[in-house]
Amino acid sequence: MKKAVFLLTITVLAILFASCNNKSEEYIDPRGTDYAGSESCIQCHKVQSEMAFQSSHFKATSPAILGNVSGDFDSKNHTFIYDKDTKLVMEKRGDSLYQVVYKNGKETAKYKFEIVFGTKHAQTSVYWKDNNTYELPVSFYHSINNWATSPGFPADKPYFDRMVVKDCYSCHSSNISSRTVDQSSANKNFMSMDVEDIINKKTIVYGIDCERCHGPAKKHVEFHLKNPNVKVANSITSFKTLNRQQKLDACALCHAGNDGMKLKSRFEFKPGDNLSEFFRETKSINDTTNFDVHGNQYRLMAQSKCFIKSDKMDCITCHNPHENASKNLASYSKICMSCHEGLKHKETTLKTMPEKLLASNCVECHMPKKASGAIKFQLSNSKQLSEYILRTHKIGVYPTNAK
Ligand code: HEC
Ligand code: HEC
Ligand code: HEC
Ligand code: HEC
Ligand code: HEC
Ligand code: HEC
Ligand code: HEC
Repeated sequence: MKKAVFLLTITVLAILFASCNNKSEEYIDPRGTDYAGSESCIQCHKVQSEMAFQSSHFKATSPAILGNVSGDFDSKNHTFIYDKDTKLVMEKRGDSLYQVVYKNGKETAKYKFEIVFGTKHAQTSVYWKDNNTYELPVSFYHSINNWATSPGFPADKPYFDRMVVKDCYSCHSSNISSRTVDQSSANKNFMSMDVEDIINKKTIVYGIDCERCHGPAKKHVEFHLKNPNVKVANSITSFKTLNRQQKLDACALCHAGNDGMKLKSRFEFKPGDNLSEFFRETKSINDTTNFDVHGNQYRLMAQSKCFIKSDKMDCITCHNPHENASKNLASYSKICMSCHEGLKHKETTLKTMPEKLLASNCVECHMPKKASGAIKFQLSNSKQLSEYILRTHKIGVYPTNAK
C-alpha cells in the first residue's frame, strides 16, 4: 500500500514537472530569456493574474481581432461622412475589420484594423504599411458611443499617413523592437521626425503585462518552481522595499505626460530605477503650470496639497495596480477620510449638499471632470470639436463645481 502511494506520488510529480518544463520550453518571450511571460505567473498568483488580465493595462494594446475592437460595424452608426462625395465605412469582411473609403459610391481604398489602442474611454487603431504602423483616421469614443475623427485628424478628408511611432508603444505595450533608419544621417535628435523606425511585428508584447511593471521574472519563476516550500519572494523586486519616489516613478513612467527630453527608452525601465535617468524635465512642477488631464495624473497629483503635505500619498494610496480605477466613487471617500478625519465644511458648502451625501462624494467636488486640451475629436458632418473628459488628479477646492 505504502509503495503504491509512493509510486503514485512520484508519477504525479513527474507529470507535473514534465508539464512545467514543457511550458517554459515552449514559450520564448520576445524580450529575451530573462522574461517568463504573464501566463507563467497564474499558477502561483491567481488573484493578481485574474484581476490584471481583465484590466485596461493588459488591453492598452491588443491585436485587432473580433471581440477586441469596439464600435459598430454593420448597423446604423458605421459611416463617417467627409463630404457629399467621400465617406469612410467601418466594415467587417470575413474575420477582418476595415475602414473603407468610398468616392461617389465606389470603393477606392481599404485599410485593415491591425492593432487597437485602449478600451475605456476611446479606442484608436492602426494598420501596417512597410513595417510600420499608421493610425486609422476614425476612432471610437465611448462618451458618444460612436465613431469620430482620431485626435488631431481632419474631418473634411480621410488621412492615412500619420505614423504611430515606437513612443506610443513604449507606454501602451510591453515590448516592441525596431531598427532605426535615420534618414537625416548624423542627426541623433530623438524628436526628429526624420527618424523612421522599422518595426519587427513578431516582437510585440501587447498591453502592460506583469513583467512590464515588475521587471524580468524568469529567475523568480524558476526558483519558486524548484523550491515550492519557500514562501519568501526570491529574485524579484519588492515594491515594499522601494522609497516613495521610486514607487511613484514606476507609474509616472507612463502617467507623467510626454514633455521630457528622452535620455533612455521607457522599455529599459525596471522597478527601482529613477525616472530622472530616463527624462530631462522641461517643465517644472509649480502651481501655475496647467498639466493636461490626459496622461498626466502624476504631475497633477503632485500639485495637490494632499500630496505635498502628507509625504506619503502615491498612486497605490487610491489604486490597486492590478485593477482598473474603481467606478464606485464612494470607495474613494473612505480613502480621503483616512487622512481627513474630523473634517468640517463651511455652512455655505453644506447648503449645496447635505452632509451625509457630501461624505461619499468627495471626488465629485475635489477631483472634478475636466476637458483635455490635448485630445479633441470631430463627429461625422460636424465642424465642432468635441471634448475628451477625464477626472483631474489635482485635488483641490474648485469653487464653481458645487452643484
Ligand atoms: C512557482 C510559483 C511562482 C511563480 C510561477 C511566480 N511566483 Fe511570484 N512569488 C512566489 C512566491 C512563493 C512569492 C512570495 C509570497 C508572495 O508574496 O506571494 C512570490 C512573490 C511575488 C511578488 C511579490 C514580491 C514582494 O516581496 O513584494 C511579485 C511581484 C511576484 N511574485 C511576481 C511574479 C511574476 C510577475 C510572476 C510571473 C512572471 C511570478 N511572480 C511567478 C511564487 C511564484
Ligand atoms: C501597472 C503595474 C503592474 C502590473 C501590470 C502588475 N503589477 Fe503586480 N504589483 C504592482 C505594484 C505597484 C505592487 C505593489 C502593491 C502594493 O504595495 O500595495 C504589486 C504587487 C504585486 C504582488 C505582491 C502582492 C500584492 O498583491 O500586493 C504580486 C504577487 C504581484 N504584484 C504579481 C503580479 C502579477 C502576477 C501580475 C500580472 C498578472 C502583475 N503583478 C501585474 C504593479 C503591477
Ligand atoms: C508602461 C506604461 C504604464 C505604466 C508603467 C503604468 N501605467 Fe497605468 N496606464 C497605462 C496606459 C497606457 C493606460 C491606458 C490603458 C487603456 O485604457 O488602454 C493606463 C491606465 C491606468 C489606469 C486606468 C485604468 C482604468 O481603466 O480605469 C490606472 C488607474 C492606472 N493606469 C494606474 C497605474 C498605476 C497605479 C501604475 C503604477 C503602479 C501604472 N498605472 C503604471 C500605462 C502605464
Ligand atoms: C507617456 C505615455 C503615453 C504615450 C507616449 C501615449 N500614451 Fe496613450 N495613454 C497613456 C495613458 C496613461 C492613457 C490613459 C489615461 C489618460 O487618458 O490619462 C492613455 C490613453 C490612450 C487612449 C485611450 C484609452 C482608453 O482606454 O480610453 C488611446 C486610444 C491612446 N492612449 C492612444 C495612444 C496613441 C495612438 C499614442 C501615440 C500617438 C499614445 N497613446 C501615446 C499614455 C501614453
Ligand atoms: C495621505 C493623506 C491624504 C489623503 C489620502 C487625502 N488627503 Fe487631502 N490633504 C492631505 C493633507 C496633509 C492636506 C493639507 C492640509 C493642510 O494644508 O493643513 C490635504 C489637503 C486637502 C484639501 C485642501 C486643498 C487646498 O488646496 O486647499 C482638500 C480639498 C483635500 N485635501 C481633499 C481630499 C480629497 C477629496 C481626498 C480624497 C480624494 C483627499 N484629500 C485625500 C492629506 C490627504
Ligand atoms: C486620492 C486618490 C487618488 C490618487 C492618489 C490617485 N488616483 Fe487615479 N483616480 C482616482 C479617482 C477618484 C479616479 C476616477 C474614477 C472614476 O471617475 O471612475 C481615478 C482615475 C484614474 C485613471 C483613469 C482616468 C479616467 O478618468 O478614467 C488613471 C489613469 C489614474 N487614476 C491614474 C493614477 C495615477 C498614475 C496615480 C498616481 C500618480 C493616481 N491615479 C493617483 C483617485 C486617485
Ligand atoms: C458639494 C461639494 C463638496 C463635497 C461633496 C466635498 N467637499 Fe470638501 N470642500 C468643498 C468646498 C466648496 C470647500 C471650501 C469651503 C469649505 O471649507 O466648506 C471644501 C473644503 C474642503 C477641505 C479644505 C478645508 C480647509 O480648511 O482648507 C477639505 C480637506 C475637504 N473639503 C475635504 C473633503 C472630503 C474629504 C470630502 C468627502 C468626505 C469632501 N471634501 C466633500 C466642497 C465639497
